[in-house]
Parts: sequence; C-alpha cells; structure tokens
Amino acid sequence: MDAPHATHEAIEQALTTLRDGYPSRFSAATDEQTLRDENAKILGKKGELTAILKQMGAIPGDARKAIGAKVNALRVEVETAFDQRLATLAAELRHAELHARPFDLTLPARTLRAEGHAHPISQVREEVIAIFKSLGFGVFDGPEVEHEVNNFTKLGFPPDHPATDMQDSFWTTDGHLLRTHTSNIQVRAMTSMTPPFAYIAPGTVYRRDDDATHSPMFHQLEAFLVDENVSMAHLKGILEAFAARLFGAGTPVRLRPSYFPFVEPGAEVDIGCVFCRKEDGTRAGCNLCKHTGWIEVLGCGMIDPVVFEECGMNVPGEQKFSDPALRRDETQKWTGFALGMGLERLAMLRYGVPNIRLFFENDPRFLAQF
Ligand code: PHE
Repeated sequence: MDAPHATHEAIEQALTTLRDGYPSRFSAATDEQTLRDENAKILGKKGELTAILKQMGAIPGDARKAIGAKVNALRVEVETAFDQRLATLAAELRHAELHARPFDLTLPARTLRAEGHAHPISQVREEVIAIFKSLGFGVFDGPEVEHEVNNFTKLGFPPDHPATDMQDSFWTTDGHLLRTHTSNIQVRAMTSMTPPFAYIAPGTVYRRDDDATHSPMFHQLEAFLVDENVSMAHLKGILEAFAARLFGAGTPVRLRPSYFPFVEPGAEVDIGCVFCRKEDGTRAGCNLCKHTGWIEVLGCGMIDPVVFEECGMNVPGEQKFSDPALRRDETQKWTGFALGMGLERLAMLRYGVPNIRLFFENDPRFLAQF
C-alpha cells in the first residue's frame, strides 16, 4: 500500500512548502490587489491549500485527522497573516497620502467659464425699463391669466375680433385667457388710479403663433401716459428719446399710420435701420430692412376715447379741467398715449439673432455670447 503513504508524504511536503513560503509571498505584495490575488492562490477555490484538502480523502483515518488539523491550522495562520498584511498596506497608503502634497494652495485659480449672467431678453428688458424710469415712468404689474374684459372688451375690441378667436388666443376657463398683450395693464391702471400717471408694464404674453420670428410665449413692454392735453407730439418726443438711448443718438424715428382698436390715431414706429446706417445718417439698404432703410420696432397711438369711457373716465358732466384753456370737448378731460413693443424683436435687432427660438432653448453656447 504505497500510494496512500506517498500521498501522505506528498501532502506533508506540500504543507511545509506552503507554510514556509506564504510569509514572503505576502510581504512581496505591495498593493491590495496583488495581495488579494496571492491570497486567492492559496485559499481560493482553486488555491493550493484547497487542493491539498481535496487530496485528503485518500489518506487513512488517523493520519487524515492529524493532517486535517494541520491544514486547518495553516488556513487560520494564512487568513490572519492576510488580514494583517492588508491592514499594513492600508496604513502605508494612508500615510503616503497624508505626507504627499496632493494640491498646491498657492496655485492661482483657474478662470471659471460657466459663471452666470443675465439672459439677453432680461438684459434688453432691464435696459428699456431703465430708460423709461429715467423719463419718469413707474412700473405697473398685472396677471398673465386675465379676464377677457381687461384684455379685450375695455380696450375696444369688438366681440367678433379675430384676436378673441380660439385659433389666436389661449383660453382657460370662464372668460379668462393668457393675456395676448400687456395692454391689459392700461385697463388695470385706468380703472384703479386717478391721472395724471405714466407707467410701463413689462411681462410675458401668449398667442397661438409659432415660426422663426414668433413664439407662443414672448415678452412685451407697454408704456402709457395719461394726463390733460397729451398730444401726439409728447408721444413722438418719448419715442425719439427712447430710440436714441437704446439704438444710439440721432437714430431716426418715423410713424406710419396703423390700426389697433384701443388707439386713435394709431401708428407703427420704424427706426432707421441699425444694420446699414452709415456715419452721416444715410442708409445703404440691407436684407434685414428689406432695402427700405427702416425697421419696425413697436406699435403706439393716442388712447382711444372708447377706452377712457370703458374704464369709467371722461364721464360727461363730471369733468373738471384744471385749466379751462385746455378744454376742447366737454367729455374729454383725460388724454393719453400708449405704446407696446416686443422684447424678443428688440433683442433680435440688437444682437442680430436670426431665430426667436434661440432665446428659449437655453443652449449655453448661445447664451454665453451676451
Ligand atoms: N398691444 C399691441 C400689440 O400687442 C401693441 C400696442 C400697444 C399698440 C399700445 C398700440 C398701443 O400688438
């Protein structure tokens, strides 16, 4: 019966080799992964000690017991040594980290390229607000969900006006809609305040419109002034001051007759093309002004008597003119002008932006340019 004996000898030999060899194998491992690999070569499923364990079936009873005890003792020894070496490596790594200089506090900071800044629409809005404030206008705020009475009726829109149609406006419930313009603020001021007053109303407005130059939501800014004896000349003076401040001194302004239900007379305002205007004020003509030399920027006019009437002002018999010389008509004490502009349009002109959608996509590559 040589074979079991030989196996017994062989196992004893293998155990000795392993016991003598593992300490230097572990200490040669200088990082965690190498150590774990080495440990697996000994204790793992296909490890050397596991292989020895598998051969024990061939050994007779008593001897098997003795060798089994030796194998288990070696297993515990290897496991303990592994844990110790693992702890030592972790301590060495920590020590190295603490004593290295991971960052240099004296290095100058890298310039931040992602700092926030105002959206181009906000920039234009703030600029326009500042201009009108300096001209004596206050800011009047109002809701975006408005009753049709304030958005249409009191502004003299007939009930069958196309703007009141489902196709053109966003209706909510019970005669309410998302306001289609900031002119609702004219009504809100005139039904709650006593003139004289001058306000601007910046805000978002909504229309069923969607193409390269129209968005279903966009920004408007309304300006209106109510006092005795206000004339078209006052309106034009304000427009010229505004154009000079926003587009540069001497920017020419012209009024073209136009129609809005709440102004009479009504006009559209053009400014001399900002793209092809030359030093001497002449204009070469370009694609943006369609070679006319003029660009439309806003709508305006004298507040229609019907609006005053709808808002309970200028009631016949109740008028008291502060200066009788101003009197032209018994029922017309208050007069005023109004103007309304689209801020996207102004920003597109200002910065040469070809598509309105760029303002709403919030692509940082676009926004970073302003
Ligand atoms: N509310 C008009 C519009 O949205 C603009 C406007 C305002 C026209 C004030 C005249 C006076 O088109």
